Amino acid sequence: MNDRPAAGVRVDEARLTSLVEQLGRVGAQSSGGIIRPLYSPPWREAQDMVATMMSDAGLSVREDAVGNVFGRLAGDTAGPVLLTGSHIDTVVHGGAYDGALGVLSAIVALEACAAAGGTPRRTVEVVSLCEEESSRFHANYFGTRSILGLVAENEPELLVDPDGVTLAEAARSVGLDPARFSDARRDDIDTFLELHIEQGRTLVDAAIDVGVVDVITGFMWLEVVVDGRTDHAGATAMTNRQDALQAAARMITAVEGVALAEGHPAVATTGVVRVHPGGANIVPGRVEFTIDVRHPELDVLDQMVAAMREQCAAVATDRGVQVDLQVVKKTPPHTLDAGLRAVLQQAADTCGLTWRELPSGAGHDSQTMGTHVKAAMLFVPSVDGRSHSPAEYSTPHDCAQGASVLATAVRLLAWA
Ligand code: GLV
Ligand code: MN
Ligand code: MN
Ligand code: MN
Repeated sequence: MNDRPAAGVRVDEARLTSLVEQLGRVGAQSSGGIIRPLYSPPWREAQDMVATMMSDAGLSVREDAVGNVFGRLAGDTAGPVLLTGSHIDTVVHGGAYDGALGVLSAIVALEACAAAGGTPRRTVEVVSLCEEESSRFHANYFGTRSILGLVAENEPELLVDPDGVTLAEAARSVGLDPARFSDARRDDIDTFLELHIEQGRTLVDAAIDVGVVDVITGFMWLEVVVDGRTDHAGATAMTNRQDALQAAARMITAVEGVALAEGHPAVATTGVVRVHPGGANIVPGRVEFTIDVRHPELDVLDQMVAAMREQCAAVATDRGVQVDLQVVKKTPPHTLDAGLRAVLQQAADTCGLTWRELPSGAGHDSQTMGTHVKAAMLFVPSVDGRSHSPAEYSTPHDCAQGASVLATAVRLLAWA
């Protein structure tokens, strides 16, 4: 942080903070954190709230067929749209900033740009994307993919949440019509800017005001099923068991070992383990577990997954169980647009703020959007690097600085 005199477009810090607090109450749990999965009642409430915020900011509001909400500031020439925003769905017991800050910063940024005077040369829109986290369905950037026309026709019927509800049924429950989903496709956007919290500790540790992302990590999700044999926990000798959980435990350790052997920035996480049938006095017969594996180089990512496959198979042979490992999601790494990154850097300089280029270990809508339009990302410091946790926090000062850089960049791109 610094106190140099600054130019650029400045957002109202108190207003941004108040919007973050308002949206942060939607889906808030008394046990801590926010639960706002795609097409749930709090999701509906959040998108309606965001629509009102956009309208209060003087934007013309529209919700598309999949529930992405757009706020538009029309330019005085025809031509492609500059889009800025992020997502409002959350992980289970997530925080108030992941995704939401990018949406709310974009709203106050456009408001500040408009207040600075003149009509934009080109049309600018804010988007509140309906889905990014895959926390309810393996929907994998459903909002962005819908805009880009990348959703398969049968996907809404095939994707099922843990309660057996299809994505199509969930959509109907919040007033959307899956038969019209393909209407969400647009081909009039050429630029996407996304502000997001860093979710790591590079910026706070270095006391840098904002980050400009160079590359977003590639990642894969694997689902592993281990089949052993249920037996009596008292009457079955230790030498006569096919304990699926003991095998899974060794596989999970091996998975961590693959990431450790590869070294930073390789990461691997098991976040879900289901033990069946789940009795204290039953030797587990089946275990399902997840693997989230990430690396910014696609070749290395593929090699890590191959090594995990091999090591899980070796454990299965050793322990006399069966293992099945399926890749359920694969998002390649993405390098963000060099020209737009330069604009974000120029905007930070104009605002008198310090910036650094850095990679993103988290996945983002920009990574998919960036396969079809120019995309760039701005990071705001995360206190203690915490995210995907109720402890997620970024200071009002840092959030407003980031939103001011976004506003200044939008002004440079759309008003100049
Ligand atoms: C998205 O939040 C991710 O898991 O990186
Ligand atoms: Mn400062
Ligand atoms: Mn997230
Ligand atoms: Mn996010």
